[in-house]
Order: sequence, then C-alpha cells, then structure tokens
Amino acid sequence: MAQLWGGRFTKETDRLVYDFNASISFDKRLYREDIEGSMAHARMLAAQGILTDEEREAIIDGLQGILDELEKGSLSIGSEYEDIHSFVEAVLTERIGEPGKKLHTGRSRNDQVALDMKMYTRKEIYKTDESVTELLHVILEVMEEHTDTYMPGFTHLQKAQPITLAHHMGAYFEMFKRDHERLRDIAGRMGTCPLGSGALAGTTYPLDREYTAELLGFDGPTLNSMDGVSDRDYLIEFLAALSMIMMHLSRFCEEVIIWNSNEYQFVDIDDAYSTGSSIMPQKKNPDIAELVRGKTGRVYGALQALLTTMKGIPLAYNKDMQEDKELAFDAMDTVKGCIRLFAGMLGTMKFREERMAASAKEGFTNATDAADYLVNHGVAFRDAHGIVGRLVLLCIERGIALDDLPLSEYKKISEVFEEDIYDAISLKTCVNKRVTQGAPGHGAMEKTIGIYREYLDGIGNGKKDKE
Ligand code: ARG
Repeated sequence: MAQLWGGRFTKETDRLVYDFNASISFDKRLYREDIEGSMAHARMLAAQGILTDEEREAIIDGLQGILDELEKGSLSIGSEYEDIHSFVEAVLTERIGEPGKKLHTGRSRNDQVALDMKMYTRKEIYKTDESVTELLHVILEVMEEHTDTYMPGFTHLQKAQPITLAHHMGAYFEMFKRDHERLRDIAGRMGTCPLGSGALAGTTYPLDREYTAELLGFDGPTLNSMDGVSDRDYLIEFLAALSMIMMHLSRFCEEVIIWNSNEYQFVDIDDAYSTGSSIMPQKKNPDIAELVRGKTGRVYGALQALLTTMKGIPLAYNKDMQEDKELAFDAMDTVKGCIRLFAGMLGTMKFREERMAASAKEGFTNATDAADYLVNHGVAFRDAHGIVGRLVLLCIERGIALDDLPLSEYKKISEVFEEDIYDAISLKTCVNKRVTQGAPGHGAMEKTIGIYREYLDGIGNGKKDKE
C-alpha cells in the first residue's frame, strides 16, 4: 500500500478500506494526461523561481522516461498504488530522488485529477467526433447512390407515401450532423484549465496559471478555484451527447432489424456483420444491430449515474467525484465502438431495390397523388379523398395496386380520370413531384446532397480546429 499521506496517521489503513478507496485500477488510463500536466506544472514552477532549472530538467526527464516506458509497455502500473497520481510521483521520486518530492509544490490531487479528467475527456470528444464524421461519410455515400431507389415512407409503421432511400438516409445524416455539432459545442466550452486551483482555495505560491494553461492547450485558467476542482459539467454534457448518439444509432438499428426481417427483406446485412444460430441452420441474425440497440441502456445509465452522484455534493471536492470515471470510461468506449461497427455494417449492407419499390407500390403509397390528380382537374380535395378511398377499397378486394386497375374502373367512380393517371401515380412521378427543399424529389435531393458534400468537405475527417 503506497500512500502519499501517511504522516498524521498512527495506524495502517484497513485493507478493505484501502481497496474501497483506491482508484488505480481504473484511473491508470489517465497516465498520459497526468504526466503532461506534471510536466507543465514543473515548467511553470521553474519559470516562477520555485524550482531550479536543474530540478525542472530532472523532473521533466524523469517524467518523459516514465511516459516512454509506459507507452512501450516496459513499465506497468501496479495495484499497490492508490491512484495514478501517487504512482507517477512515487516512481519519479524513486528514480530522481529529491526533485521528485518537490513536484507537488502548489498542487493538490484535487486540481490534478480535475485537469487529467478534463484533458482526457477533451481528447475523447474529438475521437468520438472523428467516428461520427466517418459515419456521416458512409451515410452520404449511400445517399448519392440511391437518389432513385424508391421505397415506402412510413408513419405509425404503416406505409404512407413513397420516398427514396436517399431521403430516408438523409434523416439520419441530419441527426448525426447535429451530434457532430453538439460535440464541437461541448469541446468549445472546455477551454479553461483547472490546474492551480489547489485543493480548493488556490495556493500561496506565486503560480503562473496563464502559463500552465497555455502549455496544456487551454485558452486560460478557470476563474474560481472551488469550481475548478469540482466542475464535472463537461463530462455530464458529453455523456448526454453520447446518449443522444446512442438514441440515434438505436433508432437506425431498429430500422435495419426490421428491414432485414423475413417479412420486409429490404436489406441484406453482409455475412461479415451477421451471426448464425447454434440450432437453426437457416438463420442469419442481425446481432450487431441488436447489440448496438441494447448497449444504449448502459450509456443512458452512465449519464443518470453521474447526474445523481453530482446532485448532492457540497463545494468543493468530495470523494464521491471519483465515481465519475468507471461509468464514463465505459460509455466512451462503448459509443466509439458502436459507431464504428454500425458504420461498417451500413457500408457493406445490400439494399434490395426491387423489393423496396414493390413494397411502396403494394402499399397504396401513391393514393395521395391520385387524389392530387383529381384536385388538379378541379375536384375539391375532400371529394377527391373519398373517390380515391373507394378505389383503394376496390383494389384491396382484388389484391392489386392502383397502378394495375383498368381505366374503365377508374372511370366508373369518376369520369375525370384519363389515361395519364398511370403516369401521375407512378412511383417516379410521385417522388419527383416532391420538389420542396428537404423533400425526396430528385432535384431537391441532388441539391441537399450537394450541401451535405460541401459540409463534409468543410469538416475534413473531423480533425479540423482540434489542436
Ligand atoms: N482518485 C481521486 C479522484 O478520482 C483523485 C483525487 C483525490 N483527492 C483527494 N483529496 N482524495 O477523484
């Protein structure tokens, strides 16, 4: 048991208490941020005359050595340390002696962990954003390929009006575009550096907080040291954004599962993204889509857990806040993995264009257009609605589509119908007459796709403005 704070204690910590209190098993993933923060702190202490240049060099070299060895795997983080901060300081002091003991001057683990977590989360936001951007690229490729792939659009999961696959995919493009923007917004609110807040009330040393903030890529220091050590809003915001991403992915998965069902057969999930059954040889299951849908729960759970943990905490730092890590790390890993898997599944999925078009045709999705035809020939919409309703009923009785009903039957119900009704209710016409911005009509969709293409070119691969 290696502790930084044994001085005022006369007894050893109970083993169970030690294990309950320790965070090394999960905060070890913060080693890089912890070391970078310590390097900046040492540089600043030397610039302020609190450390000598030799002490600074010994500390920086020592920390660099630890970092290199951890990255290479030749040094491992043992469970005998309480947390990552203790580990780094202990190994450093073991290696360089006296200067190592001076590193913690003017610093507390409270501002140290606040810094580590903020830096780690900021990087994770950018990594997540890269995955979201990759997914946007895959969606746009599907859109570009399927501007004339007709399918039924649904309301209440009932066939409603004909749309195109590009149009359906475009709805998801919009959702993930908002997710991308949300992630950027959150990162934009994370520009202040908590290092130098001390335990809660700053320090008596003349620290240059502007300098450490600059060294660590922040815009400036936090302006209240109590909030500096106890703010986890950015993490809650990120978990909310991750929950929203999962909600979108889960809706998308639900559709893929429905489209892949024996009844629909709109898509074929690639073998590489499907699984079989141990008993039923014919099965090819959409397990990946189901798992992504299922994992949504644990991400929502992380958000709920942290909101609840934070709600009762008086200022400033309290140990409750150590609970921010495990669930948040799990949510970060989960969402990145889900986006990547989903993008791979979508990019390799086959769309069965004939099945989709046939389904749109069978479902009377052109009934509104038949009514519009009558309206364009002077019939009042309410009357037109009634006429087409009767025609639909007739078709249902005969088991045919409106497109297959002879003109004589049309004429029996309304004399207004002429031969051109068939063209007016073809899927192609129905879709392409929908020309308002945001609609599936070919012209409107080409315009939207152009805007999306330009948008993605503007954000590159998600890495823009990051450093
Ligand atoms: N492991 C702690 C955490 O994750 C680090 C800060 C500990 N500070 C303290 N005063 N006990 O929050």
